Amino acid sequence: MNRLDALTHDPVVGPYAAELTEAVSRRNQAILRTDKKGLALARVLESLPDVAPSSTDANRARIRIGTAGDLNRDQIASLHTALRHLKPWRKGPFDFFGIPLDSEWDSSIKWDRLAGHLGPLAGKRVLDIGASCGYYLFRLAAREPELILGIEPYLNFFFQFLALARYLPCPQVHCLPLKLEELPAMRRCFDTVLCMGILYHRRSPLDTLRQVHRMMVPGGQLVLETLILEGRRALALFPEKRYAKMNNVFFIPTVACLTHWLKRSGFDGIRCVDISPTTLAEQRKTDWIDTESLADFLDPDDPEKTVEGYPAPVRAMVLATARPR
Ligand SMILES: C[S@@+](CC[C@H](N)C(=O)[O-])C[C@H]1O[C@@H](n2cnc3c(N)ncnc32)[C@H](O)[C@@H]1O
Repeated sequence: MNRLDALTHDPVVGPYAAELTEAVSRRNQAILRTDKKGLALARVLESLPDVAPSSTDANRARIRIGTAGDLNRDQIASLHTALRHLKPWRKGPFDFFGIPLDSEWDSSIKWDRLAGHLGPLAGKRVLDIGASCGYYLFRLAAREPELILGIEPYLNFFFQFLALARYLPCPQVHCLPLKLEELPAMRRCFDTVLCMGILYHRRSPLDTLRQVHRMMVPGGQLVLETLILEGRRALALFPEKRYAKMNNVFFIPTVACLTHWLKRSGFDGIRCVDISPTTLAEQRKTDWIDTESLADFLDPDDPEKTVEGYPAPVRAMVLATARPR
């Protein structure tokens, strides 16, 4: 269900391999005991055609695996069925042996905001918190880090990662089906941490930032991407119940407020490199999700507001450096 063995041999992450193995096996036991979905998803994975793609390209907006010519008609049909069983595909896009898979989010847009700001990654260790299907993990691989670890607790997304990893030859890319709070201490393990689309889902963003700081090498780079409130003062919006129909959104800070959080959690060199409203080009309903999407979350009479009357989603990308303790 995972590729923990390779992590065992890493000189920095290796000392935590036993605790990671334990956390993953606790999670696997819980899945097997209670979650029929886990078993069903494991069967979907087994049904993927057993072929090696003639070529792959993860260094492009639409990650490509193989070509249509690599599979016969039956194999294309069973691949299509398997991919549909792995829905919802939130992040992408992909080309699976000629099948265009347009995820809800065009993640290449966020990648383009991020890519120019990443420091050199050769020989580095990278953590992606909430990696979803691993779109960014595979894009990062082209930068040749020593190790890229994603964590993704939501089973459908984790199995999407396994389906992608089945065909994309990236031995340094790993993903574990764990929550951030299930990770062992992993002190000073990571040179770069991506924390994107996570902070507004946390009840205690400061504790999250402190945990992230502890896991980082001093001088390491944090890429923090989150929903923000526009304005100059150091304030945060705390929605009464839902924000854009999500019931798990807690604090939406201004960039000034986020900067204070980061400073008080051990970071400096804080730089906001992008502020973008979320558009229908970036997040929209496609055939690969069965749920609502951005258009349904906005007030039909005023797209500057969510259906609850809050400011419509705007996201910032902030870079910060982990201060030595
Ligand atoms: C809004 S998505 C962001 C995905 C991706 N990082 C991006 O920016 O496009 C949040 C992701 O975090 C995952 N997640 C939820 N709870 C988590 C937790 N406690 N620890 C780590 N990841 C979590 C979700 O399943 C989801 O894939």
